[in-house]
Amino acid sequence: MTDIDISAAGTFKFGDRTVKRMGYGAMQLAGPGVFGPPKDPDAARAVLREAIASGVDHIDTSDFYGPHVTNRLIREALHPYPDDLVIVSKLGAVRGADASWNPAQSPEALAQGLRDNLENLGLKAMEVVNLRVMSDVHGPSEGSIAPQFTALAELQQQGLIRHLGLSNVTSAQVAEARTIAPVVCVQNLYNLAHRDDDALIDELNELGIAYTPFFPLGGFSPLQSSTLSAVADRLGRTSMQVALAWLLHRSPNILLIPGTSSVAHLHENLQAAELVLSPEVIAELDAIGAKTVHA
Ligand SMILES: NC(=O)c1ccc[n+]([C@@H]2O[C@H](COP(=O)([O-])OP(=O)(O)OC[C@H]3O[C@@H](n4cnc5c(N)ncnc54)[C@H](OP(=O)(O)O)[C@@H]3O)[C@@H](O)[C@H]2O)c1
Repeated sequence: MTDIDISAAGTFKFGDRTVKRMGYGAMQLAGPGVFGPPKDPDAARAVLREAIASGVDHIDTSDFYGPHVTNRLIREALHPYPDDLVIVSKLGAVRGADASWNPAQSPEALAQGLRDNLENLGLKAMEVVNLRVMSDVHGPSEGSIAPQFTALAELQQQGLIRHLGLSNVTSAQVAEARTIAPVVCVQNLYNLAHRDDDALIDELNELGIAYTPFFPLGGFSPLQSSTLSAVADRLGRTSMQVALAWLLHRSPNILLIPGTSSVAHLHENLQAAELVLSPEVIAELDAIGAKTVHA
């Protein structure tokens, strides 16, 4: 346990729960390519325990990480769960034997995915489940998501899911989903260098909906920018800490779920909760995304 105060980054009302804005994403705990078991399961469980000991109360996962591996590690490390822990999962995909990510959006497939999550996590109901839209696996694309979201809303009505969210969606899809059931969060790709969702984040903030960026550190290709490195050096921090602090500053509805398989990186990332950036530094960092967008 460390003396990091992650509550310094504030909290956000998430459904009917309140979570700290600094959380943890568990995807990196599975084996290479998010497939199969990790090399050292004890080390993976240690990261999860350390996250909780450091005050994390929001963990993002999915049963298609591994598949099943990440959820089972979470259960082994943390069950019975602390009362204040919010575990968020996602449904809508299955893994092929070749590690591929395939759509699984029929009502039956969504119900099966939910059962897998509940069994592997050892829960009777999920606090939050995101529908992971798969029309284009690499990024949001327009098109109705009503059939899939209606199926999730039915599982919610059965008491198996408390709150619903969306992942890999457009603004129009959020609006469509909200005509079917309340949406508490949206999880899309966003970071210092990938800012396609700037307008969506502001729109969701107005609505009180959380925005949880995936790949906050760049994902499988960690963020690299000479401006980011120069700012980090000047502040005596690491690039990853500055990238996370920038996200926290970007909008009050942003919840962070940086992923790591290492306790040292976990500590480093959590410390970003205490990092305050000046307006001058924010302006410098803002220019990184502007350059990427117009390149
Ligand atoms: N909805 C979706 O479609 C979707 C897609 C992807 C991810 N997600 C969720 O989003 C979460 C976050 O995304 P992510 O884990 O893929 O990407 P990320 O948080 O952007 O980056 C994780 C990568 O950065 C490395 N890293 C972490 N902290 C570091 C540090 N302090 N210094 C240097 N390297 C560091 C990790 O390696 P080490 O393990 O070596 O630290 C890992 O390779 C996931 O855990 C998952 O829950 C959702």
